[in-house]
Amino acid sequence: MNSPVSANSRVLSGMRPTGRLHLGHYHGVLKNWVEMQHEYDCFFFVADWHALTTHYEDSGIISRSVWELVVDWLAAGVNPNAATLFIQSRVPEHAELHLLLSMIAPLSWLERVPSFKDQQEKLQGRDLSTYGFLGYPLLQSADILAYRAGWVPVGEDQVAHIELTREIARRFNFLYGREPDFEEKVEVAIKKMGKKNASLFNNLCNKYQEKGDKESLEVARELLMGQQNITIADQERLFGYIEGSGKMILPEPQPLLTSASRMPGLDGQKMSKSYNNTISLRASEDEVEHKIRTMPTDPARIRRTDPGDPAKCPVWQWHLIYSADKLQKQILKGCCSATIGCIDCKVHVVRAINEELSPIQERARLYEESPELVRNIINEGSERARDEARKTMDEVNYAMGLNY
Ligand code: TRP
Ligand code: SF4
Repeated sequence: MNSPVSANSRVLSGMRPTGRLHLGHYHGVLKNWVEMQHEYDCFFFVADWHALTTHYEDSGIISRSVWELVVDWLAAGVNPNAATLFIQSRVPEHAELHLLLSMIAPLSWLERVPSFKDQQEKLQGRDLSTYGFLGYPLLQSADILAYRAGWVPVGEDQVAHIELTREIARRFNFLYGREPDFEEKVEVAIKKMGKKNASLFNNLCNKYQEKGDKESLEVARELLMGQQNITIADQERLFGYIEGSGKMILPEPQPLLTSASRMPGLDGQKMSKSYNNTISLRASEDEVEHKIRTMPTDPARIRRTDPGDPAKCPVWQWHLIYSADKLQKQILKGCCSATIGCIDCKVHVVRAINEELSPIQERARLYEESPELVRNIINEGSERARDEARKTMDEVNYAMGLNY
């Protein structure tokens, strides 16, 4: 794609401080951040306000996790000289933009974001029928748009939030980003379509803009394409008018899907705290050993002499991540012919994980021993982030006519 947005090399991503990071975060997110930090202008932040939307009753976990999270990032190789690291609440512009966007965000757009109902059902113990929780994806939009980021590295589950962000940006640009005489020109163009088509077009626009009805958008586009008596320039204006792409004050970001390397958990499901199948980045060698030793294997392999099928074994998934081709072949053969036992097989995984974690934990210790250093990194990053967000807010306030 060659929209002005993909030419924008700024990347923004955040993580909620709600507990320790585990191998799933490392393989699924952090390794990706570390790779991107040298290729893009990266902003990574601790989403403490987002954590508060679900943990407002036990916010202690947030304050305990904020610094641990930053230390884990640094330990995993995120480099503060390459990327800007900050804490969301240190940049009040996120809240300012969230508030302003809330004025133009249709309720129905927020209510239909899938994570809203999903999470309410999943997090049963928490009362999530709050204003703040409904606004979660809008706050995320503000995070992204405040930096005019072009790319947002996220997992599948967040794509709907990026889509909402795109719609909000479009709506903002539509409302506040048009050329001074845009309105008049649009009006004249609509009239040229004739009474019947004009009123049809206006209806479709309303349905799309107020209710987010995508079908209306498509129908309106087709209607425009079939018009013989308006100029191309007018047609373009009207395309922009339905979609709100006037002056691009807030560019539409794209999701950058983190590679499929979905880390399996100890039970073969996706690794996630809620499934209780994780290995923490701070796990000791003994803990790693214990967790892998007690991992389930191919259920058909009851005795040591029973051949197994790696395809039915979660341990094999880990070999696919950690073991070289040669070892993988040996395991495959040994398992299927019952010439190796599960304990022998698991030893390799234990070793590989401990080798991976050891330098991370070493670096984490260094940062933990100098909390001042970590604070300085965040202070500097937050200041830099704030300067950037302020630039956007000045434009936003100006566009909305709030610059008295
Ligand atoms: N919602 C994201 C998550 O749950 C965290 C987040 C908040 C985020 N703001 C963001 C991610 C902005 C990317 C960009 O993982
Ligand atoms: Fe799984 Fe390895 Fe045992 Fe085969 S030998 S069942 S792959 S743990």
